[in-house]
Amino acid sequence: MEKKKILITGGAGFIGSHVVRLFVNKYPSYLIYNLDKLTYAGNLENLKDVENKSNYKFILGDIADEKFIYDLFSKEQFDGVIHLAAESHVDRSITNPNEFVITNVIGTVNLLNATNNIWKDNKKGKRFYHVSTDEVYGSLGETGYFTEQTAYDPHSPYSASKASSDHFVRAYHDTYGLPVIISNCSNNYGPYQFPEKLIPLFINNIRNNKPLPVYGKGVNIRDWLYVEDHAVAIDEIYHRGEDGETFNIGGHNEWKNIDLIKLLCKVMDNKLNREPGTSEKLITYVTDRAGHDLRYAIDSSKLQKKLGWKPSLQFEEGIEKTVSWYLNNKEWLDNVTSGNYQKYYEKMYSNR
Ligand code: NAD
Ligand code: DAU
Repeated sequence: MEKKKILITGGAGFIGSHVVRLFVNKYPSYLIYNLDKLTYAGNLENLKDVENKSNYKFILGDIADEKFIYDLFSKEQFDGVIHLAAESHVDRSITNPNEFVITNVIGTVNLLNATNNIWKDNKKGKRFYHVSTDEVYGSLGETGYFTEQTAYDPHSPYSASKASSDHFVRAYHDTYGLPVIISNCSNNYGPYQFPEKLIPLFINNIRNNKPLPVYGKGVNIRDWLYVEDHAVAIDEIYHRGEDGETFNIGGHNEWKNIDLIKLLCKVMDNKLNREPGTSEKLITYVTDRAGHDLRYAIDSSKLQKKLGWKPSLQFEEGIEKTVSWYLNNKEWLDNVTSGNYQKYYEKMYSNR
């Protein structure tokens, strides 16, 4: 029997690399294609352990390149797409929104068109899975949760671009009958996250004794999920969800930024054999992020009830595991923070 061909976009990034690893190892009967442009956030080092597997293939390419995408799909005739490729950092979207429109909106529409073209005569067993974010729902006050029915209300150029791409995905389902499925997930953490995002950035700064730039008063709240639990949810939804459905994914694990940062400092002091309280001294309050959403919290009861998924790790355990991974993989951290990273860091933080 011919192997099913699954295209994963953005597989060299943080979450994508965990999804690629899970699918390559769990499904020898699939051929997994990883399409990635290898931007600053994409790194083939993230996939060293699967790169020589016979059911894995890497393709270098840009989802915003319409002709390239159309030709690739016509040639390979994929059976499924799991779409993660995106510009993903809110702060970068504030300084350069256009890139977010090009990759997140136009790139997604290119993939939808190419998929629609190759599946137009036979949609049976096919699936286009769009990986999205809870940020499309906007910001919560002190109470309540985002459900699958919450109206979209994005505030940053990043979340506006993701909201737009979600709308296009649903429109292709409603207009052309494309077999799509969407999930909206809360903040991920774990190995291989680029150190522009809060947790790996602060781990890297603590180990280098650099200031920890806390935006505003540090009172914003995020709902944290270990990245491997997200990958498992994607697997369940890809295989067992229904066409046109949306699932919220979250950790039921809300942390005020400053409390999370203090926990991280404690774990780092312990791992680095520093006096308790040493790392906390690096905390520096800086100008707030523009349009900073106050609180995200996901109601994932649909996913839990319908597909039986739940997070596997308690946060303290996940943070311990994450800190250990970064400290045991200093070379990875040093590699990704060399080159343009220094310029990025200067630009983002020198005027705060
Ligand atoms: P990331 O920035 O770590 O990785 C993005 C990947 O996409 C990189 O490998 C990059 O090279 C690739 N890419 C970027 N532009 C491309 C283009 N034009 N063509 C092809 N490849 C391109 O992102 P992440 O944190 O792993 O997020 C992955 C997806 O999950 C995104 O769609 C994001 O919106 C969504 N998401 C992220 C989180 C989170 O907490 N990180 C939470 C919910 C949803
Ligand atoms: O909710 C899901 C989203 O989570 C994903 O869609 C995004 O791709 C992902 O980047 C993440 O967005 P956030 O903006 O929540 O993550 P970030 O790590 O950038 O910031 C987490 C919180 O920490 C947020 O309230 C801002 C704050 N922060 C962040 C940085 C980088 C700081 O206080 N200082 C910092 O230097």
